[in-house]
Amino acid sequence: MVDSRAKVELLCETPRYTPNNLKTTVFLPSCAYFSGTKFADLPYDKEKMVGEAVCPMRLLALCLGSAAAVLAATAPTPVTFYKDVLPVLQKNCQTCHRPGEAAPMAFLTYDSTRPWAKAIKTAVLTKKMPPWFADAHYGKFSNDRSMAQSDIDTLVNWVDTGATAGNPKDAPKPTIVIPTGFTEDKYVQFAEARPGNPAVVHHIIAFIREPGSPWLRDAKPGVPFVPREEARKQENDKEKRNARRGDGGLTGDFLAGYAPGTLPNIMKPGQAKLVKAGSDIVLQMHYTANGKATSDRSKVGLIFATEKPTERIITLGAVNPAFAIPPGDSNYQVDAKLTLQEDATLINFLPHMHFRGKSFEYRIVYPDGTKETLLQVPHYDFNWQLTYDLAEPKHLPAGSVIECTAHFDNSPNNRYNPDPSKEVHWGEQTWEEMMIGFFDVAVPLNTTAMDLMVPKKPAQTGPAGL
Ligand code: HEC
Repeated sequence: MVDSRAKVELLCETPRYTPNNLKTTVFLPSCAYFSGTKFADLPYDKEKMVGEAVCPMRLLALCLGSAAAVLAATAPTPVTFYKDVLPVLQKNCQTCHRPGEAAPMAFLTYDSTRPWAKAIKTAVLTKKMPPWFADAHYGKFSNDRSMAQSDIDTLVNWVDTGATAGNPKDAPKPTIVIPTGFTEDKYVQFAEARPGNPAVVHHIIAFIREPGSPWLRDAKPGVPFVPREEARKQENDKEKRNARRGDGGLTGDFLAGYAPGTLPNIMKPGQAKLVKAGSDIVLQMHYTANGKATSDRSKVGLIFATEKPTERIITLGAVNPAFAIPPGDSNYQVDAKLTLQEDATLINFLPHMHFRGKSFEYRIVYPDGTKETLLQVPHYDFNWQLTYDLAEPKHLPAGSVIECTAHFDNSPNNRYNPDPSKEVHWGEQTWEEMMIGFFDVAVPLNTTAMDLMVPKKPAQTGPAGL
């Protein structure tokens, strides 16, 4: 497999895909990467394994550690482990209360935490835990470990109401910010997110956060972070959302994703994603309980283009965050659209919803008014976050509109529905919903996401989708 003449710069420890899984290329970022030849020399579009080609890229493996929480559910109560307690433990306790750290016991799972319920209540009420001994009346410390009163109340209420597990589906999706340390702009040719522990990693989304972005500014690099309730509420606040529109799309440009069945993000020769100097990579992790305590070290592998590409790949999303899905509704429609302000070549689609997602459709409305349905997913399944690559990339003239229509099933007939009695709004958590029609476009190198999304003249018609 590996060309022994080539100099291996770095190996990514991920299993290889079988050629059968690959639609167009079998150039596998999960193998080894070498320096030497031009990318154009690669057997692109051919059924050939990577080791037979000599690849000029450099691979960067960003490793991160995070903890997965797992366990079976019991009946939900107002204060439950998964929904309320786990985020508090993640924020205040798990830096020490996990395997290999200072504390003698781990608070990663319900099972390992439950026996300590009473002791936890005492420890937080007496302020013995988390350890922080400075008198709050004097001085201010950036690493102040003392807990917010609301977090203390959550733990105490949980213990007082029987310390129940709740629904593992309610477990928060941690987010991890990884500084790239890039001192110059980098063009990424291939990007791949791989789970360290596929048994529990449900999916990973790796975003690029450009320097200066306000997104997740409270997150400490390298430490799993759960966007807080207030933060999530702000996301629903219209002004904040508008402010975020100035932030390169939904939150940041999409770099790579992993879900069962996803392939690495492989860009064609001459095309690449731009990761600006000083950017961070934000990993949004979603774990699924399997009944056993475990840990995970997922990875992101990048290969840089050695030569400056001619086109930049940008991921955009037609997004509609302003919906309220009524309880029990089995076919609730949400529409979103985005008008392209510049010419672009459409490459692929990635519809994204959560457990109540039912169907998703993408249509193009050309400037002359003609309409074309390019993707119809009649039975959307959250468990498969699939990308649909167009066999023939489509040139879209400026003024083309990407229209998306989603339907949600909030009825009890949807077996994934965590709670059909709830009105459902936009949110990061899987018990909340999203409606995003992601798609990739190839554009000239100097075109930015803002150029594509923001109308040149403010007077020009309504909001451009995002
Ligand atoms: C800085 C590391 C650190 C953090 C953060 C931390 N702990 Fe601890 N914890 C320890 C260590 C070390 C011990 C064992 C030694 C001890 O009891 O002091 C411990 C012991 C405990 C005990 C047993 C206490 C007893 O009286 O036997 C409880 C309960 C506990 N921690 C709860 C928590 C909770 C709840 C949090 C978060 C709200 C937390 N800890 C945060 C390090 C930490």
